[in-house]
Amino acid sequence: MEYVRLGATGLEVSRICLGMMSFGEPDRGMTPWSLPEDEARPLIRKALEAGVTFLDTANVYSAGSSEEITGRAIREFTTRDDVVLATKVHGRMRPGPNGGGLSRVAVLRELEASLRRLQVDHVDLYQIHRWDPATPIEETLEALDSAVRSGKVRYLGASSMWAWQFAKALHLAGERGWHRFVSMQDHYNLLNREEEREMLPLCADQGIGVIPWSPLARGRLTRDWDETTHRSENDAFGGRLYDEASDRAIVERVTEVARERGVPRARVALAWLLAKPVVTAPIVGVTRAAHLDDAVAAVDLRLTDEEVTRLEEPYRPHAVVGF
Ligand SMILES: NC(=O)c1ccc[n+]([C@@H]2O[C@H](COP(=O)([O-])OP(=O)(O)OC[C@H]3O[C@@H](n4cnc5c(N)ncnc54)[C@H](OP(=O)(O)O)[C@@H]3O)[C@@H](O)[C@H]2O)c1
Repeated sequence: MEYVRLGATGLEVSRICLGMMSFGEPDRGMTPWSLPEDEARPLIRKALEAGVTFLDTANVYSAGSSEEITGRAIREFTTRDDVVLATKVHGRMRPGPNGGGLSRVAVLRELEASLRRLQVDHVDLYQIHRWDPATPIEETLEALDSAVRSGKVRYLGASSMWAWQFAKALHLAGERGWHRFVSMQDHYNLLNREEEREMLPLCADQGIGVIPWSPLARGRLTRDWDETTHRSENDAFGGRLYDEASDRAIVERVTEVARERGVPRARVALAWLLAKPVVTAPIVGVTRAAHLDDAVAAVDLRLTDEEVTRLEEPYRPHAVVGF
């Protein structure tokens, strides 16, 4: 495994980040396809043994169950200081007033709840999962800054939002002397490259580490267009993200390059992302051991310029989706 700095920070992370949304009790939360603990544990252990030390979860994943599984796995298979632990806040965790969002009340209460589920006294990266239009960003940024100063958070990150919103938050934090976001977790893969317009150049300019979510387009880039899986048949959010008309041609190009190389398609799709200088670490979702082998092997796969051009050529602009 390779390790790189997260953006302009000194924090070293593995070039593959393990997406913990795959792990959680299926009857809790919104991912009925997620793996229960007994199936998740061997995969988490295998990832750690392969040197994948960067773990990304969220309070909302399987209604907290992903964090619980992550916490127990860290205790059992490694030590706290050997992982870089990232979680998120914003999604609704309970009905009624203050049950979600990014108010000072919600941010600080959800941080405590995440620390309890993860069984740790701090997280390395605390990310806002989305923008909260109902809360002044100054309130959120000040609450996040106090979380860092309290010792419960080491670095702050953000996830999918408009580039102007991220630029505003970065500017405000700098102006007020608050800790700034150091990373952007956004939707970026061969099937959706809209972030190349504004967000990724902003991140490059500001030294922000980019950790793309759904780097394999939730499995779309790894198999024939018409093939389905248990997850794809039960992935309501994923069903809204991709569009057959223009995406099928890209999947065919991935298939072509992978066949010529004699490697699985997932390796080609991840190698394409890993070659982008702005990308720190794709957050890969795995539901089988072989998925991990591919993610780890992708770090060493170098595509030629001609292959990159062929993979990118069929892309057409997409509607804004995912946030
Ligand atoms: N910030 C956000 O808003 C946000 C949104 C989404 C995700 N995330 C984060 O990003 C992580 C990854 O998301 P994701 O699971 O959608 O990512 P992904 O890597 O694009 O998709 C993972 C799926 O692709 C398939 N797959 C993976 N490796 C494969 C391989 N080598 N060969 C064949 N198929 C393979 C599997 O599908 P099957 O299971 O169907 O076989 C797997 O479930 C999440 O765990 C979470 O941490 C964040």
